[in-house]
Amino acid sequence: LDTKVDVHFTIDSTNSYLLRRIPNQVKVGQVCIAESQQAGRGRRGRQWVSPFGSHIYMSMYWHLEQGMSAAMGLSMVTALAVSDAIHCLYNIDVELKWPNDIYINGVKLAGILIELEGQAMEPCHCIIGIGLNVKMPMDVAEDITQPWTDLQSHVKEPIDRNELVAVIINCLRNRLRQHATEGMNAMLNDWHQRDVFMNKPVKLITGEKQTLGTCRGINSQGALLLEQDGQIKPIYGGEVSLRGV
Ligand code: ATP
Ligand code: BTN
Repeated sequence: LDTKVDVHFTIDSTNSYLLRRIPNQVKVGQVCIAESQQAGRGRRGRQWVSPFGSHIYMSMYWHLEQGMSAAMGLSMVTALAVSDAIHCLYNIDVELKWPNDIYINGVKLAGILIELEGQAMEPCHCIIGIGLNVKMPMDVAEDITQPWTDLQSHVKEPIDRNELVAVIINCLRNRLRQHATEGMNAMLNDWHQRDVFMNKPVKLITGEKQTLGTCRGINSQGALLLEQDGQIKPIYGGEVSLRGV
């Protein structure tokens, strides 16, 4: 695994930086970090508010031999890794929301953006992006259109972002290795313990359509398990959002 870490003061997006380097200028495990992003992205092209010197914006390049079909689990693998790191350093139990969000007490702390390149059935290029709020400056707080929190509000001593990034990289490598050798099955218990909606009523939003049901966790492919009228159906990611009811 490559151990290169590119650190930038400012960049458009750490995901874009690595995407531009596919296929020949990037190695598996390579990381890009920035102090600020001019065009930080969330899912579906939404903006990720990325002020200078406050948070963590990082991306890692990864490669999946099994192709795109295995990529669905990657955002959950990553969310588990970030929660491992936060638990290890600060003894805080965060909550995970399928497929890509990290919460503390029901409020968003961090988001994950996985971007893929490649043909179906062939090995695919993956960019794993993590945006984690550490200490939100007050002048940007109002740009965020939903409730948010930052890690420093839950930790007494000042947070060392270098230490945190280093531990996240380690935890991410461990989880990715586990994913490659044992698959998602080995992580289902951990996910279910941390799933913010486990066994709770939820609303699934797909465009204009809303579906009510009960969250029964995820399956070995990383699909959400939604129970409706006594039947459990897998929901395979894409343009869907999950909300509590
Ligand atoms: P979904 O359930 O569909 O993932 P979401 O509301 O979490 O819904 P995302 O696209 O995952 O949406 O995340 C982008 C949203 O996150 C933006 O619409 C914005 O409201 C919010 N956001 C942007 N920057 C930050 C930040 N630094 N911290 C917390 N939230 C942010
Ligand atoms: C989301 O919740 O929608 C995902 C947010 C992901 C933000 C991170 S910050 C580092 C990387 N670069 C980006 O442009 N986005 C991700």
